[in-house]
Amino acid sequence: MSDLASHIRALAAEKNAVILAHNYQLPEVQDIADFVGDSFGLSVKASKTDAEAIIFCGVDFMAESALLLSPDKLVIHPEPESKCPMAAMVDAQSLRLLKSKHPDAAVVSYVNTTAEVKAESDICCTSSNAAKVVRSLPEKKIIFTPDANLGSYVSSLVPEKEMILWPGYCDTHQNRITLEDLKTMKNAYPASEIIVHPECIPEVIEFSDHAFSTQGMLDHCKTSDTREFIIGTEREMVHRLRKDIPGKIFHSIDKAVCPNMKKITLKKVAASLEIFGPKIDLPDDIIKKARIPLERMVAVGRGD
Ligand code: 13P
Ligand code: SF4
Repeated sequence: MSDLASHIRALAAEKNAVILAHNYQLPEVQDIADFVGDSFGLSVKASKTDAEAIIFCGVDFMAESALLLSPDKLVIHPEPESKCPMAAMVDAQSLRLLKSKHPDAAVVSYVNTTAEVKAESDICCTSSNAAKVVRSLPEKKIIFTPDANLGSYVSSLVPEKEMILWPGYCDTHQNRITLEDLKTMKNAYPASEIIVHPECIPEVIEFSDHAFSTQGMLDHCKTSDTREFIIGTEREMVHRLRKDIPGKIFHSIDKAVCPNMKKITLKKVAASLEIFGPKIDLPDDIIKKARIPLERMVAVGRGD
């Protein structure tokens, strides 16, 4: 362990802070975390921690969700500029307008949304449980925000629902993981299974063997008889896979980077522990409303 990594672990112990990191964080950040996971797993951890503070190494909506689920805790985001551009593609006012046009629809919002948008939603979902959440609702009509790729994947799994898709997307999955990339990699590594994230475009999902959340990828690769995998998601995912499953081979797509996830560095994590900030702050009325759809999502459970 580097001196900086040891300093971070000592500070976290001294200050009773838990460090949570998403699977797309830089390898050295993943390595100093108490828990590394997908959006669903991180939400559950955040709702159950006994620590005084949560140091959240992920993008803004993930740290906000931690505060919504643990409003009495101090939630620290080491780099407030680490934001998910897809979460900014839907705003509360535009969603209210769409809801007024479809009063019979339930609103399902991906966790990749602001707290204000969650406050306008009936239930949240992650890529792990999106289909399970949609299936759990009595309404036939569903407004799904903001990821149209995830929404259309869910629609293919739950055809009995009428889905109104918000036109949002993730640049990393939509534009940096193409069908051509997968074909080239399959030619190079023909024995590999292809596993992609459901934020990828439909042609990419169709060409793949499976679509999973990042934790779903890990669970599948552990138990599968296959030894070699092409991983169609943010490239740091293979750090987690190689570390947890040392006997197998994982190929990443090098250009599939989420630049926002990379804004959190070890130096910033150390600084955030030293000053115990910057902290996530949300208005009380938003916390009250936005935590309801998130808690409903946690109650539905994992789906992959
Ligand atoms: P997971 O919940 O699968 O980790 O996905 C989060 C995310 O932001 C994907 O781009
Ligand atoms: Fe947002 Fe895409 Fe980055 Fe995930 S990979 S945090 S959806 S920009």
